[in-house]
Amino acid sequence: MSQNASQESTSAPESTSANTASERILVLDFGSQYAQLIARRVREQNVYCEIVRHDITPEKIKEHAPVGLILSGGPSSVYESDSPKCHPGIFGLDIPVLGICYGMQLVCENLGGKVGSTNTREYGRATCEVDTDSELFQGFPKQAEVWMSHGDQVQSVSEDFVALAHTDTCPVAAVKHNRLPVFGLQFHPEVTHTPEGSVLLRNFLYNVCNCTGTWKLSDFADEAIKRIREQVGDSRVICGLSGGVDSSVVAALLYKAIGSQLSCILVDNGLLRKDESKWVVKQFSEHFKTDLHVCDGRERFLSNLAGVTDPQKKRKVIGNEFIECFKAEAESIDDARFLAQGTLYPDVIESGAAKDGPAATIKLHHNVGGLPEQLGFELIEPLRDLFKDEVRRLGLELGLPEQLVWRHPFPGPGLAVRCLGEVTEDKLVVLREADAIVIDEVQKADLYRSTSQLFAVLLPVQSVGVMGDARTYENALVIRCVDTDDFMTADWSRLPYDLLANMSTRIINEVSGVNRVCYDISSKPPATIEWE
Ligand code: XMP
Repeated sequence: MSQNASQESTSAPESTSANTASERILVLDFGSQYAQLIARRVREQNVYCEIVRHDITPEKIKEHAPVGLILSGGPSSVYESDSPKCHPGIFGLDIPVLGICYGMQLVCENLGGKVGSTNTREYGRATCEVDTDSELFQGFPKQAEVWMSHGDQVQSVSEDFVALAHTDTCPVAAVKHNRLPVFGLQFHPEVTHTPEGSVLLRNFLYNVCNCTGTWKLSDFADEAIKRIREQVGDSRVICGLSGGVDSSVVAALLYKAIGSQLSCILVDNGLLRKDESKWVVKQFSEHFKTDLHVCDGRERFLSNLAGVTDPQKKRKVIGNEFIECFKAEAESIDDARFLAQGTLYPDVIESGAAKDGPAATIKLHHNVGGLPEQLGFELIEPLRDLFKDEVRRLGLELGLPEQLVWRHPFPGPGLAVRCLGEVTEDKLVVLREADAIVIDEVQKADLYRSTSQLFAVLLPVQSVGVMGDARTYENALVIRCVDTDDFMTADWSRLPYDLLANMSTRIINEVSGVNRVCYDISSKPPATIEWE
């Protein structure tokens, strides 16, 4: 995203994956929230993709031997003196380049073009009209919806460029260089709000970079297993198990890589869903033949959360307690040197935890930013480059059962970030029961698989109601249900009214302490999926 914002750091993370794929694309990261989304869209087209620093030198690029480069968006403005720049030599490598948003502005600035700020920021849906045929727009509709997010735009291009498309407010929405294999898109082809965006990325990969598309997700599993073996040697790894798909996939990868050198720890922090701990133990014993330790941290989590109302502070407290529980439990496990976590890319990017990354911090995800500095373990995070749906596909490839693989995600800080204000056991009881009802109802309506995440949020707000003939003054509860495929953007689910009515009636009748149920109709952005 480009929005004229200044930033503290201009470095981007080095890629964490050393993949031996023969055909690869490099994404140069200028601080976009979407850099990994671009990488994942490329992988979806069966081409391996890595993210590298924006200022990578031409020599370093040659070492990676990529078939194409994609310049990501970013929060800066190209005409700010401290904005992240690419090495100008990258355009002389004869490697195809696609600049997206800020990336396109860099392309034009480097190769002759004028970038300026617009009077109106363009943010949201726009209609793109294609003006000139090109290999990039092959098979793309003449008019299509696209997602814009910028304050600056290319105002004019030199005669070395051809403008390929425009929108109402953006006269140069796409460009192609006349001599070099260099293209630019002002809008974001990688987000789902650009429904035909994958056509453009595919065209870049297959028409411009001449990819053949031989990379598959199972290559990722093989590589990850190999790397885990090299990293771990004959030490022991402990893996935090939560019952969610991420930690289960990490456990499955580790189990394949190192078998009985794996010990799993489930921390029952009292912030889990109803009967969750029992469910996880049952699933685990059915699928893994290695040891599981259950740490009962219910009391200590709750006492440390007493009086805490700030969402970021809740995450910190929970992150710290998690590690303390792990450490205590790990003392009973000989040789525990590594800690494996199911951190996914959205956790990394939204925590602003990508090493020296220029992207903005949205939330402090407990399994990334909340970790105490002195961890005491070396971290293994094999899913750090992946998105949820990629992890699910990986889980199926690794033989995990569908019932587990398709579970809705549950955040590490659990019900604490759905219990707004101070977290108390009384509130948690209400929330657990309401949560169980909404999930039960959506399963009965056979909509669990077609929705991405569903849960209840308890508000610290009371309102007046009437039950029987009596006045009530109880809490309001919100049902949140979203559809998304990457959890970076999401839309609220259009659940049938009758289903919402069943949920509401059951919650008010069966859960004491709630007299009003609301449905959250905000999408992400601008809201986030969780309320805290
Ligand atoms: P947001 O609320 O940021 O959530 O739109 C995106 C996805 O991430 C989950 N989430 C978390 N997961 N630790 C986690 O492991 C966290 O601290 C955390 N916060 C949000 C959220 O449930 C959604 O699936």
